This record gives sequence, C-alpha cells and structure tokens, in this order.
Amino acid sequence: MTKDTLAERGADTFAKCFGHTPRWAVAAPGRVNLIGEHTDYNDGFVLPIAIERYTVMVADRTTDRHVTLHSITTGETAELSVRSPVQRGEPAWSNYVRGVIAGFQRRGIKIPGFNAVIDSTVPYGGGVSSSAALEVAAATLLETIHGQPLDPIEKALLCQKAEHEFAGVPCGIMDQFTSILARPNHALLLDCRTRETTAVPMNDPAVTVLIINTNVRHKLADGEYAKRRAECEAAARTLDVASLRDATLKSLSAARARVAPIPFRRARHVISENERTDQAAKALRASDWFAMGALMYASHKSLRDDYEVSCKELDAVIEIARNLGPSKGVIGCRMTGAGFGGCAVCLVKTDAIQQVTRLIGDAYENQTGNQATIFSSGPAGGARVLS
Ligand code: GLA
Repeated sequence: MTKDTLAERGADTFAKCFGHTPRWAVAAPGRVNLIGEHTDYNDGFVLPIAIERYTVMVADRTTDRHVTLHSITTGETAELSVRSPVQRGEPAWSNYVRGVIAGFQRRGIKIPGFNAVIDSTVPYGGGVSSSAALEVAAATLLETIHGQPLDPIEKALLCQKAEHEFAGVPCGIMDQFTSILARPNHALLLDCRTRETTAVPMNDPAVTVLIINTNVRHKLADGEYAKRRAECEAAARTLDVASLRDATLKSLSAARARVAPIPFRRARHVISENERTDQAAKALRASDWFAMGALMYASHKSLRDDYEVSCKELDAVIEIARNLGPSKGVIGCRMTGAGFGGCAVCLVKTDAIQQVTRLIGDAYENQTGNQATIFSSGPAGGARVLS
C-alpha cells in the first residue's frame, strides 16, 4: 500500500470518527539499517535506508485544547489535554505521540487541540523503527499545524527524547534521523558524533534490498539494549576515551588486561563495526557488491558472537541466505536493528527476488516452525506532508 492509499484510508476513517474530511496528511517512513549496528550510541557510524513503509497521520484542528488520536492498526483511541504539559498515558503507543507533543510544549510552542487518525504499514516491533516512524509523523504533523518547520536535526533529537522519556528506551539517533533525513535512492551515512549526514547513491537496478521479518520478538530486547549501552560506556571509561568511537582495535588489545571480558567483546564489535561501515559506504559507492556482502556477513558474526544480540531465528535466516549464495542471487545478509528477533536485511540480485523469497521463506519455516514475512524496498525519502 502506498502512503497516498494509506492516507486515503485514514481520511475515510477520520470522516467516520469526526464527521468531516481531515485538513492535513503526513507520512514518515520506517528504516532498515544496511550496516553499522549498535554504533549510534557510541558516537559511531551507521548506514541505513528509509523503507517504503510508512506511518501516516491525517488530522484537523479543534477549537478546544483537547487531542483525540485514533489508531487504525490497534482500533484504540487515546484522549489527552494539551492545556498543561502532556504526561505519559494509555494506550502504550500513544506515548510516542505524547512525548513529541511534550517536546514541542517544552520549546514554548503552543499546541492547539486536534483530532488525528493514525495508520501504518511499518511492521510493529520488527526492528524497522515503527516507533521512530510514529514519532516523526507526529512531529511533522505538529510542524504543519504550527505552520513552522523545526530544524531537521532539532526535530530528530526531539523525537529521540520522546522515546527516551515517554517509552523508556535509551535509543541512539539513527532511527529518527533516517525517518527525517533519508533521500530516495540513497543510503544515509550518518556520523552520530558530528550528526553530519552524507547521502550515498544506491540506485543499481540489478540489486534489491529484501527485508526478512522473523516474526519473533524476544522479551529481553529492551533490558538488554540498556545493558549493552552500559557495557560500552564501561569499556570506554577503562580505555579512557570519551566514547568507543575514539578507540581502535590496537588500543583495545593493548588494554586487554584492564578490560573485563564482556566489555572487551562489546568494544571489539563496536570498533570493528565502525570500520565495516566506513568500508561499506565505499563499497556501495563503487557498486562493489562482493565486498558489501562480505561486510554484512562479518557484521552479523560480530553481533552474534561479540555483541550477543542475535537469536536462533535470525541466525537461521542468515545461514540460509549464505548457503544460497551469489549463484542463487544472494549478495549478503545480516540482522538489522536492535536484535533479539525482528528483521534481517538481505541484498539480493533483483532478477532472483522471487526465487530467493520463496527459498528463504520455506527453509526458515522448516527449520524454526515460524513463518517469516518477506518484503523488498527501495531506499525511500524522509517524512513529508502529503498534498
Ligand atoms: C535501535 C535503536 C537505534 C540503534 C539500533 C541498533 O533501533 O533505536 O538507535 O541503536 O537499535 O543499531
């Protein structure tokens, strides 16, 4: 479903709920990270694309200071007042929007009442940033209602803060930056320290990004995420650097006796992943798919063994893809996002997409008893107001 079709469906529901057509429609994409995993909160590098899966909000102002949010996905409605600083509340998904409203309020922007319908094709909880897509859609809507856009970086940081404070996830900046700043037919190389972004062309028609959702989500995800962050910070302190961005594999091995075994492995992942991300951006520019594939497999191995954020379902997908190999059209594959389930990202020769989809889907089901959801996506553009 395109974002325009989603917006039309949203508008129909809006008319049923509120008795008239909505005035605004905005869309924000999910993302898939090609490489550079668990590096963003270590001031490192990431290389994601925005995907052609969107969260759409259609809305209109009201004359009071009351906000009604209706989600087509869950069928639930959230009610809140914007007369005073917005707080956390129910249902859980509304916190992403509440957090963004609170961020605008904190900037001294007076939010009027509004009604909104939310719909989405970003798989929920699948590691492709359904939460960032909702935050960024909400921020784009509020900019539109207010009539003045925020600076894009300010906007991304506001959304990230909403996730920290209203959803309790100490995420990095990758997801929100991608959902805002991505360009069609480009990957986004983001330096998470300087926040400098470089659009890397990714428009070889012979290669397609395939996203394989394992449809499993292991419960430990959030707690383990915060734990990894803390382990990286501990390693950086022992190495006496501001963040792992400033460490090298050489400085890490020189400090081997001082760094405890777990932080050592976490640091080895982060440092080597930053190097792989730099190399991957170069490989992408050169359409060196062989190099790109090798970097993706190396990234997965490091995430599995050193960072310990994979799971048996993700490992199964990566092994299936690797065994198919270039002769069957597979270039490279790795887990993507925070891990512990969710999605794998796979680069596939475009003319083999159907065959690869079938072969991976069948083998995954045989091995794990679960069904994967598999879809392809070109690199999409960031959030926008729909006409
Ligand atoms: C989640 C977070 C991101 C990033 C990834 C792992 O998606 O939201 O900030 O840390 O995990 O790379």
